[in-house]
Amino acid sequence: MSETLKTAEPCIMVIFGATGDLTKRKLFPALFNLAKDGHLSENFAIVGVGRQEMLSEDFRDQMVEDLKKFAGENGDEEKAKWFCSRTYYTGGDFDDDKKLFSDIKDMLRDVCTKHKIPENFFFYMAIPPDLFANVAQKVVKNGLGNEENGNWRRFIFEKPFGHDLDSAKKLNAHLLRILKERQIYRIDHYLGKETVQNLLVFRFGNSIWEPIWNRNYVDHIQITVAEKLGVEGRGGYYDTAGALRDMVPNHIFQLVTLTAMEPPVSFEADAVRDEQVKVLQAIKPFSPEVALRDAIRGQYDQGEIGGERVPGYRGEESVDPNSQTETFAALKLSIDNWRWADVPFYIRTGKRMPTRHSSIIIQFKKAPFVLFRETPIERLTTNRIEIHIQPDEGITLHFGAKIPGPLVRMGAVDMDFNYVDHFGEQLSTGYERLLFDCMIGDATLFQRADMVETSWSIVSPVLDIWSAVPPRDFPNYPAGTWGPAISDELLSRDGRAWKNAPE
Ligand code: BG6
Repeated sequence: MSETLKTAEPCIMVIFGATGDLTKRKLFPALFNLAKDGHLSENFAIVGVGRQEMLSEDFRDQMVEDLKKFAGENGDEEKAKWFCSRTYYTGGDFDDDKKLFSDIKDMLRDVCTKHKIPENFFFYMAIPPDLFANVAQKVVKNGLGNEENGNWRRFIFEKPFGHDLDSAKKLNAHLLRILKERQIYRIDHYLGKETVQNLLVFRFGNSIWEPIWNRNYVDHIQITVAEKLGVEGRGGYYDTAGALRDMVPNHIFQLVTLTAMEPPVSFEADAVRDEQVKVLQAIKPFSPEVALRDAIRGQYDQGEIGGERVPGYRGEESVDPNSQTETFAALKLSIDNWRWADVPFYIRTGKRMPTRHSSIIIQFKKAPFVLFRETPIERLTTNRIEIHIQPDEGITLHFGAKIPGPLVRMGAVDMDFNYVDHFGEQLSTGYERLLFDCMIGDATLFQRADMVETSWSIVSPVLDIWSAVPPRDFPNYPAGTWGPAISDELLSRDGRAWKNAPE
């Protein structure tokens, strides 16, 4: 991982799925932010590829409109012009072996000449996952995947990377037959979030945490990724995926590994990823009995959020009215290694929770001996570090302090660090760093094949048992609540409780 953002290498970004939502909401605004801050090379261009036939001019006009909408205050006209002058589009049928791909090839050649760009290309697959293998294959077959004369070719794949262990393995095997691992960038947008990257700095850039970051001091860890939104028009995809597949083997496991990993020997991509994969390998596999006990699923019913009535999941567009798909998942994980033996990691994620809130809580053990016998139990504090990932980015240290007055009374207090207060507002989509890293060839924040496969292998037994034993009580939580009651029981039976964000 580079310490300073320099200027990216001259290159062309080829976006498959250029007329889609991801491109306009995230990719263009992110590129625009990079350009605005001077991080893109002068010799940079974009070639958008979509199914629709369209002239480059029309594509540019649409892009300018989208930038106004999605790049917020960054709508700087000069930069928008600069952007337009290097954006091109070609459309056609992705299944057509010849026409579209030879058009892309011709266009790349012309754009390289026009903008004096060496043949460095990165192909962004912002397309449905079932097309990944096919499109990558066609790019390679048309000679666009070969790294010749010192030029590089890279491929970014969006999630979901596979639907389960088998499909992820097949996709990896397929890609690795046509490309080298170092050309493959499996994106997980959680790694583009500042607070997620800060986990590495917080843990390994400070000396005070390391001595206590282990089973001797930590009681347990809680990771919550709660969303207030429902499925937002993505019912068709979501109903075949569910909360576990959608969030756990990717985003949440990134948070688990960065929280639990050993210090890497360097911040080189493989050094960091080696340590992350060791954590995944140490997660105790779920037997069917343990999966039934320690994996909780839920589905939201209609309810109220912020005073507004919202429909139940089964009433959402493109969702089966009898759907058995979970919109909430909670797991208790055991990481069987020296650092974390007997320290449970409770993770949960769900849609239609009372508020949008993601955090990692490091809950420390109680003080060994309670000196303050007079203090009511609710005021006897334990220490915890809360790492707030979104929407408010920051870190809170929770501890006990004396309440002023003649008596020795203890109260719970917080010490807060808030990103915006210290560093000011940074407009970011989370994709800036990831796109930039791809352009400089740094894969630290991307998933390696073994990470993806190990992650799927952890959740597979749970998916299997869930499909073998359909839920009997869905829907089992009203929208606007923190999930089903059994999720609370997952912790209460261990004498613990979820720490919910204020609503
Ligand atoms: C995506 C999931 O990967 O992440 C969505 O498919 C989810 O279902 C989204 O809403 C959450 O991302 P963020 O950045 O809003 O937490």
